[in-house]
Amino acid sequence: QPTAKSQDNSAAGGDVIKVGANYELTGGIATFGNSSVNGIKLALEEFNQAGGVNGKKIELVTADNKSDAAEATNAMTKLVTQDKVVAVLGPVASSNVLAAEPVATQNQIPLVTSSATNPKVTVDPATNKTRDWIFRTCFIDPFQGDVAARFSFNDLKAKKAAIYVDQSSDYSKGLAEAFKSGFTKLGGEIVSEEAFVAKDTDFKATLTKIKAKNPDVIYVPAYYEEVGKIIRQARELGLTQPIVGGDGFDSPKLLEIAGKSALTNVFFTNHYTTMDTSPVVQEFVKKYKDKYGQEPDALAALAYDAAKVLFEAIKTAGTPDPVKIKDALAATKDFKGVTGTITLDAQHNPVKSAVIMEYNNGALKFRTRVEP
Ligand code: PHE
Repeated sequence: QPTAKSQDNSAAGGDVIKVGANYELTGGIATFGNSSVNGIKLALEEFNQAGGVNGKKIELVTADNKSDAAEATNAMTKLVTQDKVVAVLGPVASSNVLAAEPVATQNQIPLVTSSATNPKVTVDPATNKTRDWIFRTCFIDPFQGDVAARFSFNDLKAKKAAIYVDQSSDYSKGLAEAFKSGFTKLGGEIVSEEAFVAKDTDFKATLTKIKAKNPDVIYVPAYYEEVGKIIRQARELGLTQPIVGGDGFDSPKLLEIAGKSALTNVFFTNHYTTMDTSPVVQEFVKKYKDKYGQEPDALAALAYDAAKVLFEAIKTAGTPDPVKIKDALAATKDFKGVTGTITLDAQHNPVKSAVIMEYNNGALKFRTRVEP
């Protein structure tokens, strides 16, 4: 295995510094990728206007990974070897980051994911070692899943839970595990564990099995495309129980797919909400709306923060040397972001709070904030 850098990307670019964006711009989770790139572009504009890196501008090179793991590897390879970027933002989905990771590690190019929450993303489970070149600026799923478990047990008063997991997603499997452990620790019981895979469209047979177990809550840690259909079909089958999920619910498409009347008694954990009245959030919401004419979802806010953290690290490094950028990223401390204050620990993870959001008759409400 080569340990030496296969490229010298530090010399590339001349008077601009190239940063890559490997995102889900088409495919099953395209709203996630597009919101993220919007957030990054806003951060980029602000950073360059404020003087860039000693007067040098950062240039963004985007690559579409089509919401697919193999394509995420390809996009990463292209950004690193062809475009010669000095660092990469994204992907969104944990499975896609895990697919891009070997390219980052082998080529020694820092990768910062704004939103991948599975623990394996920054720590290799085989060795339990932190991955030197991989960073994230969002909380992780052992926390997110536990928040959902505590909310289900304590607030929704659920004693029996069903879990319906997307077997093709590291994110989904990790969240399911965290929920299960949190819920059973509290004294709750998991009465049904079922699985599907991304791109499935008919969930009725499995939902009928779940219905027979009569759970008090159904936990569906998955992405909006499948979740929207699951919610719609569950309600059609007369399952009226609360349906709880995670950040994967955060897309305007969820309402479109599930429909207004089905999207009731639905709760999910998330990273941030536009309904947070703090000045830092409201200032960001205004800037984003002015630029794009739409509300910034969590993906946009998370990517805005991740981009700023990376750009500041490049500035601290002083030169676009990936090794120095990596070291500056690892030292990130007290960065005041829109989604919270970011200090990276030895596992390259920050500690941040979560919010719980609630849908009733298609209307979204901010329910509560949960501190770690
Ligand atoms: N946390 C998800 C993952 O790891 C991605 C995601 C983040 C989706 C935020 C929506 C909002 O795959």
